[in-house]
Amino acid sequence: MRFGYFDDKSREYVITTPKTPYPWINYLGSENFFALVSHRAGGYCFYRDARLRRLMRYRYNNVPTDVGGRYFYINDGGEVWNPSYAPTNTALDAFECRHGLGYTRITGERKGVRASLLMLVPTGHTAEIHQLTIKNTTSAAKSLKVFSFIEWCLWNAYDDMTNYQRNFSTGEVEIERNGATLYHKTEYRERRDHYAFYNVNADVAGYDTDRETFLGLYNEWSEPQVPAKGESSNSVASGWQPVASHGLDVQLAAGEEKTFVFTLGYVEVPREEKWEKPGVINKKKAHELIAKFSKPEQVDAAMKSLADHWSKLLSNYSIESPDDKLNRTVNIWNPYQCMVTFNMSRSASYFETGIGRGMGFRDSNQDLLGFVHLVPERARERIIDIASTQFPDGSAYHQYQPLTKRGNNDVGSGFNDDPLWLIFGVAAYIRETGDYKILDEQVPFDNDPKTAVPLFEHLKRSFHHVLNNLGPHGLPLIGRADWNDCLNLNCFSETPDESFQTTGNRTGRTAESVFIAGMFVGVAPDYAYLADKRGEAGEAKAARAEAAKMTDVVLKHGWDGEWFLRAYDFFGNKVGSKDNKESQIFIEPQGFCVMAGIGVEGGQAKKALDSVKERLDTKYGIVLNNPPYSEYHVELGEISSYPPGYKENAGIFCHNNPWVIIAETVIGRGDRAFEYWKKIAPAYLEEQSEIHRLEPYVYAQMIAGKDAVRHGEAKNSWLTGTAAWNFVAISHYLLGVRPDFDGLRIHPCMGGEVSKFTVTRKCRGAEYRIHVKNSGQSGSSGAPKLIVDGVPVAGDIIPYAKPGSTVIVECEV
Ligand code: BGC
Ligand code: NOJ
Repeated sequence: MRFGYFDDKSREYVITTPKTPYPWINYLGSENFFALVSHRAGGYCFYRDARLRRLMRYRYNNVPTDVGGRYFYINDGGEVWNPSYAPTNTALDAFECRHGLGYTRITGERKGVRASLLMLVPTGHTAEIHQLTIKNTTSAAKSLKVFSFIEWCLWNAYDDMTNYQRNFSTGEVEIERNGATLYHKTEYRERRDHYAFYNVNADVAGYDTDRETFLGLYNEWSEPQVPAKGESSNSVASGWQPVASHGLDVQLAAGEEKTFVFTLGYVEVPREEKWEKPGVINKKKAHELIAKFSKPEQVDAAMKSLADHWSKLLSNYSIESPDDKLNRTVNIWNPYQCMVTFNMSRSASYFETGIGRGMGFRDSNQDLLGFVHLVPERARERIIDIASTQFPDGSAYHQYQPLTKRGNNDVGSGFNDDPLWLIFGVAAYIRETGDYKILDEQVPFDNDPKTAVPLFEHLKRSFHHVLNNLGPHGLPLIGRADWNDCLNLNCFSETPDESFQTTGNRTGRTAESVFIAGMFVGVAPDYAYLADKRGEAGEAKAARAEAAKMTDVVLKHGWDGEWFLRAYDFFGNKVGSKDNKESQIFIEPQGFCVMAGIGVEGGQAKKALDSVKERLDTKYGIVLNNPPYSEYHVELGEISSYPPGYKENAGIFCHNNPWVIIAETVIGRGDRAFEYWKKIAPAYLEEQSEIHRLEPYVYAQMIAGKDAVRHGEAKNSWLTGTAAWNFVAISHYLLGVRPDFDGLRIHPCMGGEVSKFTVTRKCRGAEYRIHVKNSGQSGSSGAPKLIVDGVPVAGDIIPYAKPGSTVIVECEV
């Protein structure tokens, strides 16, 4: 069942009912000011840090769900309704929510009044704009009372929901222009140099800034007393819960329409200029910001600039094919999600509260794979930030804080896959840009400037960190965990509330990871290539030799007969083996070892992938492991803490499905790869939204596996490495256009279902138009036939063209 449709021309998903199976959200903002907005106008905004600079209060895990947002109440002859349906839930004659790239437009209609609410964060500004257009569609005049409403968060979102003994007494506001501009200056009297405001570009009939007055102490959100009465109370908040509400008298002749622009802004003021006079805040910057968006034409211009911004970004990789679902995924929604993930990391979504984790070392390097072709200069900056948190021995803080860019001591280090992800990220960046100079950048360890060395040295430490930490079989030690944060082989936690990721009861040097081994073999050629490029031929040679050695070790000690083993535990017992009672096979090593080329020649790769098909594949995607753990295993940790079928215990972890998809292309089985890809690609799930439940335009981290009670139901949409990896799978491997160090590689491998397509790829300043005739026959060895600007070319790499040029490629597979 569908709850909307894709409008590809407008690059929008159009939701046609307020009653979607879960709040379906969008993100506004792409620089410093961000907002989450659901199809019912729920959500909140913040400046840079979702925890420390939160402007609007939001109630996670509330009843009903999705409470807190930008609400417009319309009182039409005594009946109160919202264009966003919520929170009054008054029936609408028509409803539509259009989530677009960086904006959302919600339209509701009732009894001859159509109200349309456009929300965006204009590029270059720290404000959320709400443009409300109200139209009288009847042939008689209408007299409406309209009330805006937002509730302020008292800045620190954690304190805001925990420390009431203090914060019920801190709220302060200022009122200007008879209530048309409402200021939230809580804590400004002391250490804060910033405030927020909510402005409307019209004269108001009244205002409210005190929640209890507006809503009533015991009232539901659906029965606020000010809108019901049809008259603002001009309340002035002092402590308790400051809010901002404008009261507007809106007279509309038959057929008439009026537009109001509201600006919800954030400004910072230099400390010495904080006050206009004692107790009165300096409003200069607020006035400037308000003046920029006081007319609808200015909002139109901001929308235009937003659209241009996205057109430019998205033009770096686009496809035309007969498959609309494929086109919209590749051209719009997958890269859009990658950009949102770049901006948010794992901080604020409808499943992450914005007060939890910092930026992940591993996460950020993987995210980079999906956004490097969109904003390469920001990828560069991110790489330097990440590498600056590495330790001298090559290990890394697992997370760092975006505001301070410092490693996070609470989480610490010891996730032994982390260092390798840095090589991964840097190689992807150099492939995209050709910027080898980044390897010379002076980058410190643990943010200590005295320790700065060239970035390449960081890669070296990463590589050698694995070699310096091998276990009894010669496989890499797993440490706290590898990619699978929930496989905690050294943790042995018996105490509730301990974190599986940070509690280390035993520091054994026995638990080994076949996943890290596969990853090591996979990144070694890139590392060796870069070493050669820097004239370190000896290091390059040694790296290649180590990779060959590791390959042998994997085939000897990491092969279980029909698939790759997952690990050896603390006691040296096998994990992910036919000898185990449960979890005999895991997805991760099958994907990563085959991607690295291990066992491709000897036939183990094909066997492993056939085992994936047989044991892990389901109707809704590939599960992580099988059979799931049915009880808690202290020697395995968090993985066995989830009921069967959820999360890392045999859920369909969408993040690692693309590893198998890519692996299938490595052995030339494009049709199977495409089939797997379609199973989890959101656009293909639209028809089953009642089962999937989450947004059909973005990936979710997890879909409940075959052993779960709710097989097929997704959780944790938006902020997940799934976005980047699936983009890599489809764009680099299935459609087969990927930048390599010395040229653009063109090697489609997706079976024959899509018989022809054109990829337009901009890379290193040139544009490539690649027309593919796709019979689907190409295997890994079956190189495509390429004609470049009329000249046949051998192999599958075409050299990079001069910046500014356009290259026409005919490709036949
Ligand atoms: C989740 C993992 C996550 C980890 C660290 C676990 O509870 O299941 O997906 O990576 O916490 O935050
Ligand atoms: C979520 C983490 O962010 C990611 O890094 C990890 O690999 C997965 N969980 C799997 O546990």
